[in-house]
Amino acid sequence: ADTLGSAAAEKGRYFGAAVAANRLGEAQYAATLNTEFNSVTPENEMKWDALEPSRGSFGFGNADRIVDHARSRGKSVRGHTLVWHSQLPGWVSGLGATDLRSAMNNHITQVMTHYRGAIHSWDVVNEAFQDGSSGARRSSPFQDKLGNGFIEEAFRTARAADPNAKLCYNDYNTDGVNAKSNAVYNLVRDFKSRGVPIDCVGFQSHFNSASPVPSDYRANLQRFADLGVDVQITELDIEGSGTTQATHYGNVVTACLAVSRCTGITVWGIPDKYSWRSSGTPLLFDDNYTKKPAYHAVLSAL
Ligand code: XIL
Repeated sequence: ADTLGSAAAEKGRYFGAAVAANRLGEAQYAATLNTEFNSVTPENEMKWDALEPSRGSFGFGNADRIVDHARSRGKSVRGHTLVWHSQLPGWVSGLGATDLRSAMNNHITQVMTHYRGAIHSWDVVNEAFQDGSSGARRSSPFQDKLGNGFIEEAFRTARAADPNAKLCYNDYNTDGVNAKSNAVYNLVRDFKSRGVPIDCVGFQSHFNSASPVPSDYRANLQRFADLGVDVQITELDIEGSGTTQATHYGNVVTACLAVSRCTGITVWGIPDKYSWRSSGTPLLFDDNYTKKPAYHAVLSAL
């Protein structure tokens, strides 16, 4: 196979990219997306501030543009993200517990109902744990007002809203075995033992020199898979350049392919110039959409 998506498909996986609605009109951007990727994640367009900027008023236009672009070309769509402390409109943080609970459940239900049947996996809850050694929950309106049970409630509401979507927990700095990934592992194990719905865990995999691809990446993915969930690499980017960056990218692909329940990889953008990272060249295509060594390393590892 000579594209990322078709090579991944031959291995029973998807290979996706985060996409911005306002770039779809750019010819080279759309051509690269259309040719190379068979899955799409809206980079910002399905976040709470984008979909429900004021309470009960939903606007799906930009997200729909991405979903329609992808589905009309046979690509699958990852939903990102329903409950997250960031890119959260101010009105949500101002609510008391009773209103916040109903706003959270309504947001999940309305959004998942709108996209029912169109989204293969949803990041139901994003980044609920702190960095560092504590394994504690991160402070957020949801955590602070609803307590530890908010994650379970979000997943139960999500299952009811779209019973066919895979429901994922997604986080960063959980790519290797560490205190934070242990905390997520314990959450997933608890959910599985009590029958709380969860189908997948997303590993964002934003790597740089301070946070390199961990040597126990494959082992960490495997221990989650062994709990009975799929694993997905959801926001991959790796700072660096040349053969060093290419080697790291190849190692990520090899780790995923070694885990039968690692169902797909998404890179967090297409050309370097549109990366969310303010500096650096973390993606697979340069600013002219030329394939970088990292691209070739991914393709040959697939
Ligand atoms: C980032 C987007 O790429 C940026 O455009 C936006 O300004 C901020 O959010 N973890 C996530 C993603 O789950 O949603 C974030 O995306 C990157 C970190």
